[in-house]
Order: sequence, then C-alpha cells, then structure tokens
Amino acid sequence: MRCANLIGGRWVDPGDGPVLHVRDAATGQVVAQVPAATAEAAKAAIEAASTALPHWAATTTADRADFLRRCGQRLRSDRQRLANLITAEGGKPLAESLGEVDYSADYLDSAADEAVRLTAHTLPQRREGRVQVAVPDPIGVVAAVTPWNFPLAMLARKTAPALAAGCTQVAKPAEETPLSALAFAEILVEEGLPNGVVNIVTGEPGPIVAAWLDDGRVRKLSFTGSTEVGRLLMRGAASQVVCLSLELGGHAPFLVFADADIGAAVEAAVLGKFRVAGQTCICPNRFIVHSSVVEEFTARLAAAAKDLPVGRGTLPGVRIGPLISDEAVDRVRAQVQDAIDRGARVVTGGATIAVPGCLDRFFAPTVISGATPSMRCFEEETFGPLAPIASASDDDSMVRMANATHYGLAAYAFSADPQRLARAARQLDCGIVGCNTAAVSDAYAPFGGRGWSGFGREGGRWGVDEYISWKYICEARPD
Ligand code: SIN
Repeated sequence: MRCANLIGGRWVDPGDGPVLHVRDAATGQVVAQVPAATAEAAKAAIEAASTALPHWAATTTADRADFLRRCGQRLRSDRQRLANLITAEGGKPLAESLGEVDYSADYLDSAADEAVRLTAHTLPQRREGRVQVAVPDPIGVVAAVTPWNFPLAMLARKTAPALAAGCTQVAKPAEETPLSALAFAEILVEEGLPNGVVNIVTGEPGPIVAAWLDDGRVRKLSFTGSTEVGRLLMRGAASQVVCLSLELGGHAPFLVFADADIGAAVEAAVLGKFRVAGQTCICPNRFIVHSSVVEEFTARLAAAAKDLPVGRGTLPGVRIGPLISDEAVDRVRAQVQDAIDRGARVVTGGATIAVPGCLDRFFAPTVISGATPSMRCFEEETFGPLAPIASASDDDSMVRMANATHYGLAAYAFSADPQRLARAARQLDCGIVGCNTAAVSDAYAPFGGRGWSGFGREGGRWGVDEYISWKYICEARPD
C-alpha cells in the first residue's frame, strides 16, 4: 500500500522530509512510516480541494451516488486486507476490525442513498409576483480530523456525506492509525476519484489543523475526538468563522431497572462496554443498577468479563486487545485506584495482564462494585475496559444520577416494561438512547451528542445535511 499523502491526485512521499512512525499498538514495533506533513502540505491540500470544488459540485447527484456505491463495494471486497491493517495499527481484535470495514461501507451506501434525494424545494407561493426556491448548495471545501479508535469508519462517515453533498475534502487521520485511511484513499482513487476531491495528509495535528482553520477557504471542519481538543478547535475556528461538527467525549450511563432481564442486560453490557477494549465514545461508562438486582447483575457481569480472552488482536477468538498507549493504561489504573481509595471493591480485573512479546497495555476487563458519583470513574470518561457499578433504589434517582454530567452522547436503559423504557428514553439528556440494547451504531441513524459531547450529527440524511448550505433564491416575476 501507499505510505504517502494524497494531494491533488498525486501521491506525495516523505522524501527527505520528516516521517511519522506507525507502531503496532500491541508490541510497539514500527509497522510503517508515513509523511509528517508540514503546514505547506496542508495548504497544498486546500489548494487542490479548492481547485476541484467547482467541477465536483457540478456533478450530478446520481454520478456522486454511483461513485460512493462503487467505493462501498470495494471496501467489502477488500474487507480482510483492510481489517488486517486496522488491527495492525490500533490493536483491535480482527473480528471487530472486520465489523468496522462493513460499518464503513454502510456509510458510503447511506450517503449514496441520500445524495440522490438532495433536491431544491420550491416554496408554496404566499405572495403574487414572486418565485422562491431553496437550493442545497455544498458548503465548499471541508476538513475532517479523525480518531484512532475507528480509523476507517470515522473517515468514511465524514468523507461519504461530504462528497454526496458536492463538497471537496482535506482530511487528517490520527497520528497512531493513518494506514487504513491511506488504504481508503487508494480505493477512492482506483474507483475514479477526480484529482483534488479528497486529499489526505498525515502528521501531527497542530500545524496541519492550524493551517486549515486559518486559511479562509476551509468552510467546515468535522472532528471526532476528545472534548479538550474540541474546545481548542472551537477557539481556532472563530477567526475565519469555520462551521464545526464535533463528536466529542462520552460518559454513557447504563441503567438496569428492577424488572430488567438480567441475562440480556449482562450480554449487552459485555458487548457495549468491552468493544475495542472500552475505547469507544458510546461505550457504557457508568452502570446504575436498581438495588434489588445489583448483586445479581454484578456477579453475572463479572463472571462474563473474566471469561473474555485477552491478547493480540490478530489471534482468533481474542475479545480484548491492547489499549492504544501507556497513558491510556495509566488513566484506567488511576481510576481503579481512586475507586478503591474511596471504598469501591474490585470484583474482577483491576490490573494489566502480561501478554508474551507485547507491551504492558492489556488491561483486564474490570468490574468494580460500590461505585459512587464522587469517584473519578463516575466523573470522567474512562476509555478503557472498566465497568463501575453504582446502585439506586428508584427510577427517578437512577435517571437523576445518569443525567448528573456535562456529557450527553449515549445512554442505555434495560427494563421489561415498554412504558418505563419510553419514560427513561424521554428523560435521558443525550443524543442516542439504547433501549434493551447497547448495539446502537447504524450508518443510517443520526449519531451525535449534546453538551460536552459536542454537536452535529453523522449518518443518514442528518450526516449529509451537515455539508449543505441552503441557498434561498427569491425572484420577482411580475405578470
Ligand atoms: C465512537 O467511538 O466515536 C464511534 C462509535 C460508533 O460509531 O459505534
């Protein structure tokens, strides 16, 4: 594969310039090197995207949809190769990487479906002698900054709707995981991407993102990552008034009401909490369980967590791979210690597990009981395989505890009573609610949050709408 940047249809090698070493998250071994792009490269990418814009914006939505669909098919036929890359760079278990490739292809299909629905609207005539039309113009050149936890899916989720809307794009994958993004770009080119419509630069975020925000030609930036970085981007976007979509941190509550099917809740908790070793924005971060069932839920979750195979993502059957960095391990460890210091009990896990030939980054799936809202794990996003369980004795207190946070991305509720679920779904203050399920991700649904979890939606028609600037034309037509 190409370990180069794509700018204006040309693959730009690092040459004698600086490089970024891409390391296997499990072993720390260098698996590839890619350019560490400078501000100049970032500006060249804008130049290419600006030049390509008028032509791409003038293509028909049917042509854009065909292109996106072809790329989706290519992702599916290259599934194994792409999954191997995702696992090599981020350490994710192979089965999850394969799922990520399918999820990415779904974003291409979903944007293709929406592209052909884009249409101008003629407003109903309210006054004689004038015709009013609303036209879905593309926003223009847009930027994407994507995270390491879903390196392919998050890029597909930003690129596909941008292209469907008629925008051109400059994109920067996470420093840790640029390889699947470059493979994605290679597929776009092979499927006929016109020069400059998508440009990918790899490197440290500072100079690249500053060049994009300060330029004046980038009209929008879509970012998935931490709340802290989201705040910096909001400040940086102010001078050129760049539109933003921000998918930031999550702190999802997982509510188990007294009448819930405990077996089903445990199964969902395992899937949601331990996916990508707990490194997803929507994974349950705080378990709030009715006091009448908390003992049973805790014992069953701990038993299931203990059985999850931990190891290198390349090995068949592995469910928990490495955390992305030593800092990530330190954060989980510190949250566990803080919980113990404040009176919680580790029911299973609580430390790293040695994996031969690998770094000390494999944190055992951990369940702690007796968690309280004052503990760090109940105040901060964990981004690791830690399930802290608190209890409460009535529905209102459970929902109140769930909403006692500035974050508002996802929440989950489990109950046998549809009315109780409907009430909880109404009351939970967040963008996504899973009722009796933690498998909410869907390329056709609106994904996004509130408060410190950011704003803007990705997926389906909502995702494409983020790249449209409606133009209202009012024409006087005297008889
Ligand atoms: C995320 O962690 O931000 C994305 C999770 C998903 O789309 O399922």
